[in-house]
Amino acid sequence: MAAQNEQTDPCTIVIFGASGDLTSRKLMPALHSLSCEGLLHPQTDVIGLALTDLSDGAFRDLLYKGVMEYSRLKPGGEEICARWPRFAKRVSYICGKFEDGETYAALAKLLGNPRRAARTRGNVLFYLATPPQLFPVIAGQLGRSGLNRGAGWRRVIVEKPFGTDLESARRLNGDLHAVFDENQIFRIDHYLGKETVQNILTLRFANAIFEPLWNRNFVEHMQIMVAEDSGVGARGGYYDRAGVVRDMLQNHLLQLLTLMTMEPPSAYSARSLRDEKVKVLHAMRCPRIEDCVLGQYRGYRKEKSVVRHSRTPTFAAVKLYVDNWRWQGVPIYLRTGKKLARRASEIFLQFKAVPHLLFPENCDLTPNHISICIAPDEGVHMGIETKVPGTSMKSAPVDMVFHYGERFGKFVIPDAYERLLMDAIQDDASLFARRDEIEWAWMILDPLIAALENRAAAPPAPYRAGSWGPDEACTLLEREGYAWQTSCSRE
Ligand code: BG6
Repeated sequence: MAAQNEQTDPCTIVIFGASGDLTSRKLMPALHSLSCEGLLHPQTDVIGLALTDLSDGAFRDLLYKGVMEYSRLKPGGEEICARWPRFAKRVSYICGKFEDGETYAALAKLLGNPRRAARTRGNVLFYLATPPQLFPVIAGQLGRSGLNRGAGWRRVIVEKPFGTDLESARRLNGDLHAVFDENQIFRIDHYLGKETVQNILTLRFANAIFEPLWNRNFVEHMQIMVAEDSGVGARGGYYDRAGVVRDMLQNHLLQLLTLMTMEPPSAYSARSLRDEKVKVLHAMRCPRIEDCVLGQYRGYRKEKSVVRHSRTPTFAAVKLYVDNWRWQGVPIYLRTGKKLARRASEIFLQFKAVPHLLFPENCDLTPNHISICIAPDEGVHMGIETKVPGTSMKSAPVDMVFHYGERFGKFVIPDAYERLLMDAIQDDASLFARRDEIEWAWMILDPLIAALENRAAAPPAPYRAGSWGPDEACTLLEREGYAWQTSCSRE
């Protein structure tokens, strides 16, 4: 694992699909912030590649707008960073078709320029930010043109979605492996780049007090929620084919679940971490259709590029189990959806009730909990009982609260893409999914997806935009005596 205060290797970052949203909203703002903080090597070049006809200048203008709007450290904003002009000089653009050999010949020419090659030591990071059907096409062309190998290192970052089921994920892995070795491939799940998601590891393994409780003897149940208040926006076409299970559950929520449930790795290294994640994925039981509630927000079918009678779910609540010594019998509930009451991602761990009630005044003690607040107000809450001041032994639940903003300041949390780009350049794959990890995640959800897509299955339950999803999602927990929690909110 490379230290984060080190500067990265010099390299050229080649972004396929560079005129798209991801580049201007996430990739360039992230690279610019890294550069402002002196983490990116000054000899880092960027080549954008896309179908849109743009000059180098027009491409830089497009990126500048994105950086101004989305960057944590704006060129001239509240936190001033004056590096943009120097940074922009290193940015160039190729207009071309991803299927065309000529595009790769033009790219090879740019990369082979002796001055650039000397500056960047021949290191190249390819970033596939295109629609997924182009991933094998681009990988194949990179292989044919010999750009997958070179004087320096060559790596490729692949965006999600990584396949649509086990079979397609295996095929895609095969296509990538025909050109790149596993250690050259970085499969991104931006949730792993989030500060608060990495803090799950710190919370669990840098503190002695939690780990002894982190098991079936003390934990009553667990909830993992990623709620969004926005709808599908301009991505209706993609989303209507994918749906919530493929878009969110198979990747982001399962990643959170593996970090919460895995055994302690023996080292903080890509290999140990990913071995433990895969091990716990092996132990996950495929959720049953009876333990799954799907919903679709009202108005979804009127969204742009969505089929009029679409049965695509935009909400899912699922119960599943991890069948191993640590977690046997502990229900784990996952909930995610669009157009919900508010944007809130959090993990809630409820502990078992005390074994004996000592104080007669308190016959309904609130069980202890830990909430990991992933977004938007990043932090950790711990719910405990405390004595109410007075002459009786009556107690009340209180929250012990830590929030990043208050402790570390407003601008401290880097965007997930900053961390992930930095790690890929530093050859640290800890926060990227390995081949077997992706395939296991599909194996867990494929049976559910197949059952849900069966024509005889009930359509998703409609729910009101701005609600917490269909009522049936509450029943899923209520029948076991639990309720969904949103305990990070400080409203
Ligand atoms: C993406 C999904 O991977 O994650 C989107 O495709 C979703 O549908 C997004 O909106 C959520 O990410 P975040 O970081 O905003 O919680």
